[in-house]
Amino acid sequence: MLDIRPTGAALGAEICSIDLSTEIDEATLRAVEKALHEHEVIYFRDQRISPEQHVAFSARFGALEKHLRVDCCKPGFPEIFVVSNVIENGKPIGTQDAGLFWHSDLAYMSVPSRGSLFYAHEVPHDADGRPQGDTMFASTTAAWQALPDDIKRIVAGRRAVTSYAKGYYRDRKSGTRPPLTETQKARTPDVEHPIMRTHPYNGKPCLFVNEGYTASIAGLAADESERMLKLLFEHVSRPEFIYRHQWRAGDFLIWDNCATQHRAVFDYALPQRRRMERTTLTGTAPF
Ligand code: SIN
Repeated sequence: MLDIRPTGAALGAEICSIDLSTEIDEATLRAVEKALHEHEVIYFRDQRISPEQHVAFSARFGALEKHLRVDCCKPGFPEIFVVSNVIENGKPIGTQDAGLFWHSDLAYMSVPSRGSLFYAHEVPHDADGRPQGDTMFASTTAAWQALPDDIKRIVAGRRAVTSYAKGYYRDRKSGTRPPLTETQKARTPDVEHPIMRTHPYNGKPCLFVNEGYTASIAGLAADESERMLKLLFEHVSRPEFIYRHQWRAGDFLIWDNCATQHRAVFDYALPQRRRMERTTLTGTAPF
């Protein structure tokens, strides 16, 4: 029996008394997976794991992605995507500005990610010792449920176009991102996904458009599509659907990429270092 402590927000729970550096038995793993489907974001504090253990634990949930931004993957670990402001030998060690906008991981692929496993190595602090660089999570199940019926009627059954290039270039500081390569472009053609997506494990309806990558609603005139997307983006990020995670070094957090969206808070700068590492689970085609 797991010791699960819900955050009290619309989503999120801490799972206590599990040491991820030890062998996790199958029954415990399934209980963790069940908690993820129920709480949408789960986290374990005070973990000490190696990159090999991070990858091995993640792979117990299924196949892992190798991010198309190979320049941001940990050397020797193509499954680990580095999110960090740290510069070593004049080069960023990972992506410096992931999560600038609300999004879910790999929403721009025809098969988006099922979930992500994020390990906090270094967390920035302000002058008073308070952690910075929080991550905000929004529940797309709660957001869908609270959507007014007339809006549900307009968008249910419709599809939205996602564009990797839109999110990749949007409002980025110059010099933080190299131009997309031909290989990256070829791997990320625009794709359409249902706006109301059914969660593949618990059947809950989820609002599956995001500010970062959704470009338009198929079949609507451009101005109507823009108006509706603006409404949906504002709706999903309403405070009542949000859990804001304040990181501690050693946190290991798993989010569900169908039931949630996330956004990073950029309130820190070097010499305060933020160094996080992410593995990304392969998902299933949305329906
Ligand atoms: C991400 O979008 O994967 C990064 C989120 C974060 O840095 O908090």
